[in-house]
Amino acid sequence: MLKRCGRRLLLALAGALLACLLVLTADPPPPPVPAERGRRALRSLAGPSGVAPAPGLEAAAAPGALVREVHSLSEYFSLLTRSRRDAGPPPGSVPRPAAGHPRPPAEPLTPHDVFIAVKTTKKFHRARLDLLLETWISRHKEMTYIFTDGEDAALARRTGNVVNTNCSAAHSRQALSCKMAVEYDRFIESGRKWFCHVDDDNYVNVRALLRLLASYPHTQDIYLGKPSLDRPIQATERVSESKVRPVHFWFATGGAGFCISRGLALKMSPWASGGHFMSTAERIRLPDDCTIGYIVEALLGVPLIRSGLFHSHLENLQQVPTSELHEQVTLSYGMFENKRNAVHIKGPFSVEADPSRFRSIHCHLYPDTPWCPHTAIF
Ligand SMILES: *[C@@H]1O[C@H](CO)[C@@H](O)[C@H](O)[C@H]1NC(C)=O
Repeated sequence: MLKRCGRRLLLALAGALLACLLVLTADPPPPPVPAERGRRALRSLAGPSGVAPAPGLEAAAAPGALVREVHSLSEYFSLLTRSRRDAGPPPGSVPRPAAGHPRPPAEPLTPHDVFIAVKTTKKFHRARLDLLLETWISRHKEMTYIFTDGEDAALARRTGNVVNTNCSAAHSRQALSCKMAVEYDRFIESGRKWFCHVDDDNYVNVRALLRLLASYPHTQDIYLGKPSLDRPIQATERVSESKVRPVHFWFATGGAGFCISRGLALKMSPWASGGHFMSTAERIRLPDDCTIGYIVEALLGVPLIRSGLFHSHLENLQQVPTSELHEQVTLSYGMFENKRNAVHIKGPFSVEADPSRFRSIHCHLYPDTPWCPHTAIF
């Protein structure tokens, strides 16, 4: 009798746990980007800026059973880790159902805990960086570091956190990896809890970023971002002078921004610190963001946690709902499939006056900004 009761209890518990897992993992994944579009986007990125298409990117086009298998395995592991983390919310915490990511906070976080690296090049100091300095960076100077490739007195006057990487200004694989290497080293030196990398065409909604990061413990292995392909990238890893082998892994697209916890960043050190990032990038001959994915997923076995709150210009930004702007972590602007691509927001500035929409977004998020029209009602 007792035995049967125990078994029934166990079954009921198992059922409840399963239901719990189903509910917790119901968090919808970001809509997949069709493979063709992802590849085209990558190619168009590589095209005009003069980077030869990397062999690994071409290889990604070949579908294979192995790739699909890793696809599902990787998703499986990321689901597992997510449900594990979600399993034990601290007592008394209230999930925010409106957030789309109803994750309870794991630890308190202040802007000083986060290191945001903005990658730019001297050519874009006026055209792109000034807009960021005027908008989101103006509110968060202490956490934002600008990594560039040329001296600029005007820029130095606006913020003290400018790092001249001395890397080449070319948009080559080597130059990009050179900058990422400096970003990584500076983050490690800073002692901060989180490393986030963004491009000079990203708007960072710092409140949403802090909310997202605070829901994960920084001492654990966390790699957060959004892939731009719908399957793992397949590359060729050089293991010795004469030997190569195929490798596949997910990576978060650098153009949408991504974040790495300090716990994970420290583990990446053998492949990322000092001059090692450059040699690791050479080993797979892929750009900087792919190299990060290679180190994290392929070498350390830590799965990328996908977040639909990061946005690059490789996706249709018109689809970001204005009502959910407060929740989005990064936004962008640019060209997508030969059309102007920007977030759709009515005002307060016209599209002619504010083509990136960043000024309008900033006024939407921070209506107390002095240069925002005070008559605007949001
Ligand atoms: C770049 O070069 C300057 C001048 O030699 C040097 O002071 C600076 O530390 C270098 N930057 C980095 C990131 O190595």
